[in-house]
Amino acid sequence: MAFPTETVYGLGADALNISAVTRLYRVKERPLNHPLIVHISNFDNLDFWIDKRTELVNKLLVNFTPGPLTIIFKKNSNLKIGYLTGNQDKVAIRIPRHPMSQILLAEFENQGGRGVVAPSANKFGKVSNTEPKGIFEDFQSELLPGDVVLDGGSCEIGIESTILDCSSTIPKLLRFGAISQDDIQNTIGEPIEVVQKQTPETMIRFSGMFSKHYSPKAKVVINGKPQSGDGYIGLVSEPVPAEVVILFQPKDSIEFAQILYSSFRRADQLALKRVFVSVPESGKLAEAIKDRVLRASNEE
Ligand code: TXA
Ligand code: MG
Repeated sequence: MAFPTETVYGLGADALNISAVTRLYRVKERPLNHPLIVHISNFDNLDFWIDKRTELVNKLLVNFTPGPLTIIFKKNSNLKIGYLTGNQDKVAIRIPRHPMSQILLAEFENQGGRGVVAPSANKFGKVSNTEPKGIFEDFQSELLPGDVVLDGGSCEIGIESTILDCSSTIPKLLRFGAISQDDIQNTIGEPIEVVQKQTPETMIRFSGMFSKHYSPKAKVVINGKPQSGDGYIGLVSEPVPAEVVILFQPKDSIEFAQILYSSFRRADQLALKRVFVSVPESGKLAEAIKDRVLRASNEE
C-alpha cells in the first residue's frame, strides 16, 4: 500500500513479512543491501525494535515526533531483521505525523502489526512522489489486485525526513530535512556531527547519500543561465530569465520544498531537456533543498 506522509509518499509493507518486503525491493528496483525505514504510530512501540533508549533520544522523541525525523538505533538483538536493515545491526525508525499515516499505522498495530517499512514511493534513484498520480505511473506494470494507493493530496513538506544516527555517542546527521541541525542541537543541548562524505562502503548503505539521486530525466542545472525552452524553478522574488518554461515560482523556501519534486516530474512530462533551478539561499529547508537539487544535478 502506498500512503501519504507529511514528507513524501511511502510504499508500505509489513516490516515483519519477508515476502512483502522482498516484493517491495523488487518493484522499487532497490538493491537489497539498502536499509529501509520502519514506520510506527508512536514511541510506545519503539522498544520492540531497538536495543535501548537514551535520554538524548527521549528528548528528540518528545520534541519532534510524530514528525519528519528518522532516528537510527542499534537494533534489538533478538530480532532477525537483516532483510530490511541491509544486514546491519542498526534499524531506522520514523513516526510520521500525516493523519492518514497515523491512522493506518495505529490500525495496523491494533491488529497485531509491529511496523511498516516504507521507502519513498518511486523507482530507486528517481524523483520521489509528493502526489498520488505519479505513483500509478511509476508502478503501473507492477500493480496487483488488492494493491492500494491512499490519496492524501499533496504532501505538506515535500522533501524526505531528516535522518539522525543515534546509534553511537555523538549523533550524526545523515540526511538533511525539515528538522535542521540547529533544531536538533537546540533540543539536545549539544553539538552533532554532519556526515558530508561517505566512504564507498557506507555509500552503498545510504541510498539518499548517493551522489546522484532524486533525478528527473531532464538534466538539472543549478543557478546557471538558461536558454530558450529550458525549464525554470526559482523564487517569485527573483528576476525570470527570458523565454524559459516556468515550472514553478514558489513564494518562499517552504513552498519551494513542497513543489520541487512535482516540478521535476512536470519537466519530464513536458519532455524538457534541461531544468534550471535557482535555489533559495536562506529560509526553512534551504539546506535540504540545496542537498536534493545538488544530487539531482549530479552525473552518474
Ligand atoms: O521521509 C521519509 O523518510 C520517507 C517517507 C516515506 O517516510 N521515506 C524515505 O525512505 O525517504 P527511503 O527508503 O527512500 O530512504 C531511506 C534512507 C535511505 O537513504 C537508507 O539508506 C537510510 O534511510 N537508512 C535506512 N536504514 C538505515 C540504517 N540502518 N543505517 C543507515 N541508513 C539507513
Ligand atoms: Mg527515496
